[in-house]
Amino acid sequence: MTVTHPQGVVTSYAPTAHEVVAALSRGRGGDAAGAIIAMADLATRLSESEATILVGALSDVAAEFTRFYADWICAQEAAEVQAVLAYGPRPGLNYRDVVGHAGATHYDRVADMLTHVDFSNCARFVLVGAGELPSTALHVHDRTGVAHIACLDTRLEAVRSVETLAAWLNSDRLSALHFDGAQYDYSDADVIFVANMVTPKQVVLARILDTAPHHVRIILRDPYSLGLLWAEEGGAALDPRLSIIARGAGSRFLSRDLFLARHASN
Ligand SMILES: C[S@@+](CC[C@H](N)C(=O)[O-])C[C@H]1O[C@@H](n2cnc3c(N)ncnc32)[C@H](O)[C@@H]1O
Repeated sequence: MTVTHPQGVVTSYAPTAHEVVAALSRGRGGDAAGAIIAMADLATRLSESEATILVGALSDVAAEFTRFYADWICAQEAAEVQAVLAYGPRPGLNYRDVVGHAGATHYDRVADMLTHVDFSNCARFVLVGAGELPSTALHVHDRTGVAHIACLDTRLEAVRSVETLAAWLNSDRLSALHFDGAQYDYSDADVIFVANMVTPKQVVLARILDTAPHHVRIILRDPYSLGLLWAEEGGAALDPRLSIIARGAGSRFLSRDLFLARHASN
């Protein structure tokens, strides 16, 4: 049964339609966080196939949910960085010691990197899509001895924020680069993490495969369920030169790590 509702939303499941319309109205009314939280809550009550059908039915408004998510995450990260910087730097103080709840959740959610990837031989880690608060890079910074941790972002304000954080940490291991991951040269990278909000993911993955050394390990943060409304899926039509060797745990806002490996023949 399909239902056409105000704002032109067409869904197969009447019960969800009101929730979707309410979430959209929250986002359009300026409450980006509320819109995403409402949809993430809705996802907990849907089966995988129901979520897939709903994502298909909402293709016309997916761009709005993508904007709500990006606005919310970037604003949240910028606020978290200010809170961290309010702590005067002290020797031995780790980022994880002072970060707020949201930053801690982001930081902890990539802990499975250390389970699936051996960082002992990693000289250079690259985070594509660092944001104002590169939690993934800070996790590697705190928990491994990787000497060079490069944070790429297309937004200058994110790059400036990472530079400020590196100074706060008094670290020369963390660097920020104003770069599009689709144009970066990965020839000296050992481990690469592509953030969930990165676009276009397929082009970035192809660039990695064209320039990175053969031994490179790639971690792709990918959306699932209703998370496909606000982030691009890279794991579906994966480059034939790659395969998924492990999937990390799911998360509150419906993304998870995909651990990729290059086919031996490529
Ligand atoms: C908000 S962050 C979230 C990642 C999170 N901070 C982390 O540590 O995993 C995502 C960032 O990806 C950036 N981005 C999106 N596409 C990109 C691309 N093709 N190359 C580089 N950065 C990109 C956006 O500007 C945004 O700042």
